[in-house]
Amino acid sequence: MPDTHVVILAAGQGTRMKSSLPKVLHPVAGVPMVEHVLRVAGSVRPSTITLVVGHQAEAIRAALVGRQGLQFALQVPQLGTAHALQQAERLLAGRTGTLVLLSADVPLLSAAALRLLLETHHAAGAAATVVTAVVERPYGYGRIIRTGGRIVRIVEERDASPAERRVREINSGIYAFDLPPLFDALRSIATRNAQGEYYLTDLIAVYRRRKLPVDALIVDDPREIRGVNSRSELAEVSTIMRQKKNEELMASGVTIVDPATTYIDPDVEVGADTVIHPGVVIQGHSKIGSACEIHAYVRIADSELADRVTILNFCLIIGARVADGAAIGPFAHLRPATEIGQGAKIGNFVELKKTTLGAGSKANHLSYLGNATIGANVNVGAGTITCNYDGEKKHETVIEDGAFIGSDTQLIAPVRVGKGAYVGAGSSITEDVPPGALGIARGRQINVEGWAERRKSTAAKTKT
Ligand code: UD1
Ligand code: CA
Repeated sequence: MPDTHVVILAAGQGTRMKSSLPKVLHPVAGVPMVEHVLRVAGSVRPSTITLVVGHQAEAIRAALVGRQGLQFALQVPQLGTAHALQQAERLLAGRTGTLVLLSADVPLLSAAALRLLLETHHAAGAAATVVTAVVERPYGYGRIIRTGGRIVRIVEERDASPAERRVREINSGIYAFDLPPLFDALRSIATRNAQGEYYLTDLIAVYRRRKLPVDALIVDDPREIRGVNSRSELAEVSTIMRQKKNEELMASGVTIVDPATTYIDPDVEVGADTVIHPGVVIQGHSKIGSACEIHAYVRIADSELADRVTILNFCLIIGARVADGAAIGPFAHLRPATEIGQGAKIGNFVELKKTTLGAGSKANHLSYLGNATIGANVNVGAGTITCNYDGEKKHETVIEDGAFIGSDTQLIAPVRVGKGAYVGAGSSITEDVPPGALGIARGRQINVEGWAERRKSTAAKTKT
């Protein structure tokens, strides 16, 4: 196989998005559009990847800093797709092989389709191969014009005659080109069209005139080449991407009760026999084990659940790790750097942050546990609060194995409750409780005998 060079166009303004964020940074299923395209580009192991940027070039560059092997070409001003590709010429000087042209706003293209493009291109010995699709609604796309079955040119929607507009074969904006004749041919493109731009699509007619062989590859699944120009197309493309992810997970043994309302980002992993109920959102780099059950209306982001974990309804779990067999919720909030031990239980209206809860421990009701290290088999009573913040700094609470924290306790950090110790309900604990001790810190109760009766008779006297 000759060398492959990928060029991705991302310099356009994306006017139809009506956004201050560059179009190609809008997320599709949680991942920026351009990132999807870079990933598929990487799948063909190209010698170079060039991203053509222009409109909001700095924002795009900044979003992609540190990416290995990515070079940028700057297009200022933006005079059309042919002009955009020309900006890559200098960076590819002296290179040979095949140039694959991708659009940063066509994020669903699969690695398989891209591989097929290269294979078809080489097998046919074409100088240019265009990826096309036959669709029900061709509106907005360039149309493929054929004579005698062979592609002769591409006409843009705005420049098409009524008859040409009826053509249902569309241009995906994805091409393979042999490098040697490409940049010279680009120079002969003019701007005689409705938008006054240099259209890359005109290259097909140029090639035909120059007797360079042109081929087209019709993709099986037209969904793969959907372009994003508006918010509505952004939503459509995200839906397709989610459907694909859900189908993949179901094929691998995950039960998704209602795929239409289940939002799982592409990088999420889920083990077999896990059941996911409606309205669940799993984002980022989350990893869910097998035989877990995630009930309705839960959001999990960048978190890890081991096997057999149950998440009851309406939980928010971000940057947390939950060990085997633990149960969370309903209405629990696990914030970053929370670790829940094996078989542990977190109940309703419990919030944890930067806290480790050991194996078999429980915090079943209405608690805030922050900056705490809690051992195994600890019982945290209802309404327990670690007072971790003094207005300036955060302080640590340590609760050792087997301790019992009575309900409605405030643990004023820094503080330590020793192994097997008890804390009486309603305590404000300001000092360490030694192992095995009982710590109790609340006003001592007094009972005033006959008080109620006396109060009534005083009240009767003042009335008369
Ligand atoms: C383009 C194609 C159309 C095809 C469609 C597929 C042309 C003239 N038209 O139309 O045939 O059906 O894609 O999605 O090529 N860009 C630049 N610099 C520019 C202009 C655009 O880098 O000066 C980039 C854009 O950022 C975008 C891509 O090129 O990533 C396509 O541009 P866009 O304006 O979206 O073209 P379409 O109208 O969608
Ligand atoms: Ca487009």
